[in-house]
Parts: sequence; structure tokens; C-alpha cells
Amino acid sequence: MTSAELRIGVLGSGSGSNCEAILKACASGRIPAKVALVLSDVRDALILERAHRYGIKAEFLGASQLKTKLEPALEEKALRMLLDAGVRFVALAGFMRVLKSPMLHGFRGHIVNIHPSLLPAFPGLRAWEQALKFGAKVTGCTVHFVDESIDGGPIILQQAVPILPQDSPETLLQRIQLVEHQIYPEAIRLFAQGKLEIVGRTVKILE
Ligand code: GAR
Repeated sequence: MTSAELRIGVLGSGSGSNCEAILKACASGRIPAKVALVLSDVRDALILERAHRYGIKAEFLGASQLKTKLEPALEEKALRMLLDAGVRFVALAGFMRVLKSPMLHGFRGHIVNIHPSLLPAFPGLRAWEQALKFGAKVTGCTVHFVDESIDGGPIILQQAVPILPQDSPETLLQRIQLVEHQIYPEAIRLFAQGKLEIVGRTVKILE
């Protein structure tokens, strides 16, 4: 397979603004790849609607009774759907469940996530609010490979966002997401062009 033929799967639980940034970058040719399938664990998530607007196949995966992860059978289903769609690279875009072995084995080294803080600071939920409550002066966002850890995989790109004295959680998140929409497509472009190499914990950028 050449990098130009890379087929991407996107998993998300929410509004899908990062997914849309990826879709735009693919449509414009900035990322030499195609989003083949968008999946959500939330039936009425806006991410599915956004993907449909771009003519992309997008489906509700099914309801999970568990809070933080998918039932193994549901995760197997996601893996099967992605592989059936020819997906070789997965982008988590606001997917609010931890992935386990089916997906991690299926896509090892081929699955990335965007997180709204400068990892390893503030992993977990509502990271922007954690940074604000902690009194940090700077936060940001991180694109990283996904492994068994929580938000702990090798870091691809990061960008800082200052925390302003008048910030509320909402204003801070808004500014972080503007930056996310830049660095997430950029990290995926680097992957699609074969320019990322994982060496231990470090991701080398070959350009
Ligand atoms: C993004 O800000 C992303 O960083 C965050 O969810 C938001 C999804 O927004 N992800 C996490 O917090 C993962 N721990 P979007 O649906 O509009 O892309």
C-alpha cells in the first residue's frame, strides 16, 4: 500500500470538530489519505452528522453498559468494521473510552489520540479544567500514539496555549481546540507521509 492510499478510521463521542479538521485536510489534499469510516459510541453524537455532511460513512457502534471502556464484543465489532472498511490508521477524536487489546493489537503503532493538555500534565477527563483549577499559567494540547496507558503513549506533536487571568473553562477550551485543529491534521499528515518513527518513548519526525 502506498501512503497515498492510506484509509483512516475516526472514533469520537462528541461534537467532532477535530474530525472535521481531519476531513477538511484530507479533502484539500494536505493529508494524503481518505477517511473511510467514522464510528461513535454515542447514538446522536454530532461527529456522525458532520461526517455524513462530508459524504463519509459514519455509524453508531452500539450502546455500551460500561462507563470507561467498551464491552470486549463491542470493541471487536469496531475492529472488524474498521478492517472491513480497509482502515489501516485510527484517529481518536474526542473518543471518551479507553481502548483495550482488540483495538490496540489490531492497530498497534497505527492509532493516535488528541488530548487537551500538555501531557504528561493533566491526563484524564476535562484536562483544560484541571489545568485551570491547578493554577497553571500554560497548558495546551498533545497528539500522541495510543498504547495501554491512559494518555501516556509516545508524543508526536504538542503546542502550548497560555492560560489568561480572565479565562473560564469554556474560553480556555475554545482556544485549545483552535490549536488542536491545527496540530491534529499536521500529525496525521506526518504519519500518512511516513515521516514518523517511534524510537522507545520518542517519536522522531523525519523532515
Ligand atoms: C477535544 O478537545 C479533545 O482534545 C478532547 O475532547 C474534545 C473533543 O472535541 N479529548 C479528550 O479529552 C480525550 N481525553 P471534538 O469532538 O469537537 O473534536
